[in-house]
Amino acid sequence: MDEQRGTEINDVAPTSLNHIIGQRSVVDQVRVGLDAAFEDGRRMDSALLVGPPGVGKSALARVIAAEMATDYHEVLGQSITSPGDLNAFLLAAREKSVCHVDEAHEMRKDFQTALYLAIDQRKLIIGGGKSIQSLPIADFTLLLSTTDEYCLLQPLRDRMRLVLRFEFYSDEELATVLKHRAKCLRWEVEDEVLPLIAMRSRGTPRLALRLLQSCYRVCRSLGETAITHEHLKRACSLEQINELGLGPTEQKYISILRDGPQRLNVIASLIGLPSRTVSQVTEPFLIRAGLITKDDQGKRMLTGAGYEHAQLDNIQLRSKTCLKHAQNVSKINRIRGPNASNGF
Ligand SMILES: Nc1ncnc2c1ncn2[C@@H]1O[C@H](COP(=O)(O)OP(=O)(O)OP(=O)(O)O)[C@@H](O)[C@H]1O
Ligand SMILES: [Mg+2]
Repeated sequence: MDEQRGTEINDVAPTSLNHIIGQRSVVDQVRVGLDAAFEDGRRMDSALLVGPPGVGKSALARVIAAEMATDYHEVLGQSITSPGDLNAFLLAAREKSVCHVDEAHEMRKDFQTALYLAIDQRKLIIGGGKSIQSLPIADFTLLLSTTDEYCLLQPLRDRMRLVLRFEFYSDEELATVLKHRAKCLRWEVEDEVLPLIAMRSRGTPRLALRLLQSCYRVCRSLGETAITHEHLKRACSLEQINELGLGPTEQKYISILRDGPQRLNVIASLIGLPSRTVSQVTEPFLIRAGLITKDDQGKRMLTGAGYEHAQLDNIQLRSKTCLKHAQNVSKINRIRGPNASNGF
């Protein structure tokens, strides 16, 4: 590593559409939107950016502003707490600005209504009674990012001309994101390390980049200059991340199911978390990875892949009953497919 190297993974970020790895359909839609805007000499159409956390919605919003060579304004949905906050955001925009409401689903419903009315009329109505005032607002591109589009009012959703749906990334795409980031930061990384980080990152660039930063920390703590497999192993052991990227809570979840199917509330008490947190935070990745499923009574159980994973983690099946259960589950999965979730 040389003296020019960066130390913080977020010191660099994509600045052009060509830097966005993967997300082909999103990138293609944006490219058409930008080309059309340039041809007509106008702003890009407004867009809804939908997808799970950490997959690049905010990164893309900034890239759109950079591609339009215009100013960029960003606000968090939950930080709009008064009409004044919304008005200030709308009045700061100039012609062709890119204005991004991140976590838009956190915006109060009355502000969502005020937002779409203001966009429709291209003006703000301020005050009341005799002191009512109408202020024009610029013709800007509105971008709304959300992990939960159905928490947005339909009239607001419907006014977004482009709907950009982000997918999880393949391991190869994540390895490419990591490679580019390491190169920009001038971090030296052994070839075998990036695909191994990608495998532990649940299809999410933010998690991949965070783990790369952890590897860098371990590497530098030893006074070394090139990130190696040993640094990755140490970083994973410090953060208790296993080879699939499961953290301590998910590993405990899997180990509970190793003894047979369980109800959500039992699993939650054994883990020590509210049931809602387990079903909304812990389970989604386990389901997506095909490690768990649900039986006809709503009990959670391991799939064949889940048992294999438990075994890989050197967790021994304790009794013949468990083994038999594992075989039964494999059989069920062969019939239903590993991701059959029966409406978790
Ligand atoms: N396709 C990509 N190519 C390169 N880097 C990416 C890509 N997608 C995301 N990143 C990087 O991953 C990190 C997380 O992305 P970002 O903050 O944009 O996610 P997000 O979808 O806005 O998450 P949240 O829903 O939590 O706001 C950032 O450092 C970003 O630069
Ligand atoms: Mg974001």
